[in-house]
Amino acid sequence: MKNDNKQHDQHEQERRSPAAAVAAYVRLFLSAQQLHLFNLFSHLLLLAFGFIIGITLAFSLNRQHLLLPSNNNNPVSVNNNSQSGIKRDGLGSFLMAGKEAIMHDMSDDELLWRASMVPKIREVPLRIKPKVAFMFLTRGPLYLGPLWERFFKGNEGFYSIYIHSHPSFNASSVPKTSVFYGRRIPSKGVRWGDFNMVDAERRLLANALLDMSNQRFVLVSESCIPLFNFSTVYGYLMNSSKTFVEAYDLAGPVGRGRYSQRMRPLIKPSQWRKGSQWFQIDRALAVEVVSDRQYYPVFKKHCRYGGCIADEHYLPTLVSIKFWRRNANRTLTWVDWSKGGSHPSRYMRSDVTVSFLKRLRHGTRCRYNGKTTNVCHLFARKFMPHSLDRLLRFAPRLMHFHSS
Ligand SMILES: *[C@@H]1O[C@H](CO)[C@@H](O)[C@H](O)[C@H]1NC(C)=O
Ligand SMILES: *[C@@H]1O[C@H](CO)[C@@H](O)[C@H](O)[C@H]1NC(C)=O
Ligand SMILES: *[C@@H]1O[C@H](CO)[C@@H](O)[C@H](O)[C@H]1NC(C)=O
Ligand SMILES: *[C@@H]1O[C@H](CO)[C@@H](O)[C@H](O)[C@H]1NC(C)=O
Ligand SMILES: *[C@@H]1O[C@H](CO)[C@@H](O)[C@H](O)[C@H]1NC(C)=O
Repeated sequence: MKNDNKQHDQHEQERRSPAAAVAAYVRLFLSAQQLHLFNLFSHLLLLAFGFIIGITLAFSLNRQHLLLPSNNNNPVSVNNNSQSGIKRDGLGSFLMAGKEAIMHDMSDDELLWRASMVPKIREVPLRIKPKVAFMFLTRGPLYLGPLWERFFKGNEGFYSIYIHSHPSFNASSVPKTSVFYGRRIPSKGVRWGDFNMVDAERRLLANALLDMSNQRFVLVSESCIPLFNFSTVYGYLMNSSKTFVEAYDLAGPVGRGRYSQRMRPLIKPSQWRKGSQWFQIDRALAVEVVSDRQYYPVFKKHCRYGGCIADEHYLPTLVSIKFWRRNANRTLTWVDWSKGGSHPSRYMRSDVTVSFLKRLRHGTRCRYNGKTTNVCHLFARKFMPHSLDRLLRFAPRLMHFHSS
């Protein structure tokens, strides 16, 4: 009470001169900031403590599945804190943090900032098995999940899974034995065609970037299927010298017609591109996407009216302006727009035949690492729930998935 009065008096005095008033505001502002920072740090500390406990447990439960430092023969001397139950295991345990606990309460701004960090030392002091991050952008349940389960089986340690689904979706029906169990990231509502689709993509990328071992990033939906087995997909992505963001220039209302003159001078009409939302990119480009603060606000402001579908233009345009040198301008996700309209063809049970799947696997020609190939698509859409049993039937033989 006394303190309050004192403070009050101080404020009274300061109010008399404008300069003093400003100083008082700055002080108030700073102390609020400090308080905020302090809160943030204490949360982070708690989080880190939780991670370390989780990781220690995981390490002692199953050592052979974990990334271990390749040269831990000269450990730095640390306090022997085995009494407190915390075991240290060098850099490996810190890098594992993202893998063990993917739920967090960071805001989008905090998450994007954290994900934009890049190590300045290029040589990695421990052996990291590069992983492919499969990012599922879904509305509700992953109805083709059993096919993906079979795809992933036996390849543990070479992939990670992230799911962004509508907040109203109750994910507790996912069994503990599923590869999808506990892989949902903090998600927000998304409407097809709305700008928040771009936010969801960036949210998925940022979450996946938190795990340093993720080196390739693949965006898929619940209606996507893999067309090849895991080893083929992994090798194709890891060995590629290019990123796969489809980008093309299209005349007419659903192409250049979606460009807004208000995007000048940052984006010229000749730089406007269209392309599929479903991309396959590497870590360097993923970092650029989550840290873009130049094109993102312009799209957010001007690509939301007049039928501008942001997710079909933001990445294609951004990549074509700044990162085109390493981009293949094509996507690895097969889709059929030939029937026209605003949605591609959907495939039911009866559409799924061996010859159809063969055509998707080898029916096109394209360039890959400077050579012509007939493996141009690793994924395909849009497959409806009833197509699952036939896909499961054909997958082992045709796509060489692990059987049983
Ligand atoms: C740490 O201390 C425990 C006993 O408190 C001891 O058994 C253990 O060998 C010590 N470890 C190291 C690396 O010194
Ligand atoms: C989610 O589903 C489970 C049963 O699968 C149920 O026990 C739980 O209450 C549901 N949660 C919500 C928020 O609806
Ligand atoms: C994956 O499929 C290819 C053919 O596309 C086959 O040669 C290879 O043996 C398969 N890999 C596994 C692990 O089954
Ligand atoms: C990448 O290509 C090389 C040579 O073409 C091959 O030996 C290697 O197995 C490929 N890597 C993967 C991960 O498939
Ligand atoms: C991709 O498109 C850009 C123009 O947007 C072009 O400069 C580049 O050569 C294209 N790359 C390939 C591999 O076709």
